[in-house]
Amino acid sequence: MKIMIIHGPNLNLLGSREPEIYGSETLGQINAELEKLAVELGLTLEIFQSNYEGEIIEAIHRAGDGCSGILINPAAFTHYSYALLDALAAVKLPFVEVHLSNIFSRDNFRLKSVTAPLAAGLICGFGSESYYLGLEALQRIISRGKKID
Ligand code: DQA
Repeated sequence: MKIMIIHGPNLNLLGSREPEIYGSETLGQINAELEKLAVELGLTLEIFQSNYEGEIIEAIHRAGDGCSGILINPAAFTHYSYALLDALAAVKLPFVEVHLSNIFSRDNFRLKSVTAPLAAGLICGFGSESYYLGLEALQRIISRGKKID
């Protein structure tokens, strides 16, 4: 079973970007942990990061061709990208949305996720653990056959 993992804008800077909020792990370290976990869960991963909305939309489209689900941290696009929401709706794959920080305890503009209503679930506030919990959750819901119809 193949899972598309998508990291949105500015997440390439993890490790040095506001570590008091996002932690000190780099994206490379998080991806390495995800790869290890994927082996345990019997998953293969395609991992993608971009700072560009259109590239993320294309990765979502690509996931529609061969992936069973998407684990996505849309980063700031979470809060305003209807284009991402439409892409996720179009491919109809189950997806789990994750955030390192607790988006509900920060700035007002972060309180809303435009993508979450379509997600199988949202995990936030656990730092890099949000990704690992999210991958496990995705594997569990897919293997139980729960898909968006
Ligand atoms: C984030 C939260 C977003 O509000 C922010 O724009 C990010 C990262 C997180 O993982 O906590 O870039 O998605």
